[in-house]
Amino acid sequence: YKRVTTKSLIEMKQNGEKISMLTAYDFTMAKIVDSAGVDVILVGDSASNVMAGHETTLPITLDQMIYHASGVVRAIERALVVVDLPFGSYQSDPKEALRSAIRIMKESGGHAVKLEGGSEIKDSIKRILNAGIPVMGHLGLTPQSIYKFGTYTVRAKEDEEADKLIEDAKMLERVGCFALVLEKIPAKLAKKVAESISIPVIGIGAGSGVDGQVLVIHDMLGMNNEFNPRFLRRYLDLYDQMTKAIGQYVTDVKAVDFPNENEQY
Ligand code: KIV
Ligand code: NA
Repeated sequence: YKRVTTKSLIEMKQNGEKISMLTAYDFTMAKIVDSAGVDVILVGDSASNVMAGHETTLPITLDQMIYHASGVVRAIERALVVVDLPFGSYQSDPKEALRSAIRIMKESGGHAVKLEGGSEIKDSIKRILNAGIPVMGHLGLTPQSIYKFGTYTVRAKEDEEADKLIEDAKMLERVGCFALVLEKIPAKLAKKVAESISIPVIGIGAGSGVDGQVLVIHDMLGMNNEFNPRFLRRYLDLYDQMTKAIGQYVTDVKAVDFPNENEQY
């Protein structure tokens, strides 16, 4: 396999080839995702929800993100690994942001970091980029600001918020981000952003007019049957399949059907 790099993603946009991205938080899952041909693996702070069971992404720590990311990095042969900077690890000042990004790069071996926000964190992004660390932006619904928004509903439906988003996207391109995630915004706006900047725009709940798509792996595999946003497509019903398989195991153990003669020494 030829490794995916930040450069190859920009070339994919130029060639009109869509970019596939999924989250992974551990070695075993990352190995499957990588060998299935996914271009970018995101070690998302959604680990706070799907791995740790928190209601929001706010509680996960930098140490925990590094733990998740290091397992993912050990599994991959081809994909580019992007790691979220968690809430509290970059908002207070650019120096702290750089320190956090350096820890991720050194201690996990990830290839890039992702930060939520636009103009508010411009100086932090520049600082990280100056150290040679690739940065992916993230605009629209930014879950680390959920207590400011109050809800997980679609963002930038009003002109004012849409204009700021376009300005922020252009700024992220200008300072040197290699790509940008747009989460849960109108498809028309996302398409407009993708057409007005040269770096790839990866959407989640942002329609098909962007340069690639990202989903949380547990959601697309149907491991969680309580989360049903409109943008989600389920490729499996793993929750049901796993529950059946595990239930069968319980039945077999109780009935002394497992292990059978061939399954013992
Ligand atoms: O943490 C995450 O999974 C993300 C994606 C939804 C883009 O940031
Ligand atoms: Na995230």
